[in-house]
Amino acid sequence: MSHSKLLVASLAATLFSTSLFAGDDDLSEAAVKERTKPVGSVYIAGAEPVKAGGARSGADVYGASCIACHGAGVMGAPKPGNADDWAPRKEQGFDVLLEHAINGFKAMPAKGSCMDCSDDEIKAAIEHMLEGV
Ligand code: HEC
Repeated sequence: MSHSKLLVASLAATLFSTSLFAGDDDLSEAAVKERTKPVGSVYIAGAEPVKAGGARSGADVYGASCIACHGAGVMGAPKPGNADDWAPRKEQGFDVLLEHAINGFKAMPAKGSCMDCSDDEIKAAIEHMLEGV
């Protein structure tokens, strides 16, 4: 007796969940496309890992990864906010500065050796150094 009750209950549960899943399937194609769209474009655009905590600020990245050289102008690294240091470099255009910072340039190591920095975080760090320039 208790066995058949259990069978009925589980059959009902199966039917119920099956119909729920069927309902989900109808929605899921559009819903999944919508949900994956921004994630997909982030990966294609930056090919960067998406960090749970969100991007660090330019000041944070600078303080953690760039200040060691740029703070004092080690090996000729342009100092933050120093117009003389940055003027000839800015003439190249921001895209070139960004490209050099990401891939490395002479004594400037790729990403300032911050290998978990996203391209956007490197960009923010450069913008931080260019403040007031
Ligand atoms: C190990 C020292 C070092 C670290 C760390 C470092 N840099 Fe540099 N960086 C340099 C040096 C040296 C230059 C100048 C290279 C040259 O023109 O000879 C430079 C130049 C640059 C330039 C100018 C490139 C150009 O085209 O003129 C940018 C932009 C830059 N660094 C960004 C960064 C950022 C952003 C960080 C931190 C994420 C960083 N750097 C960390 C040493 C460093």
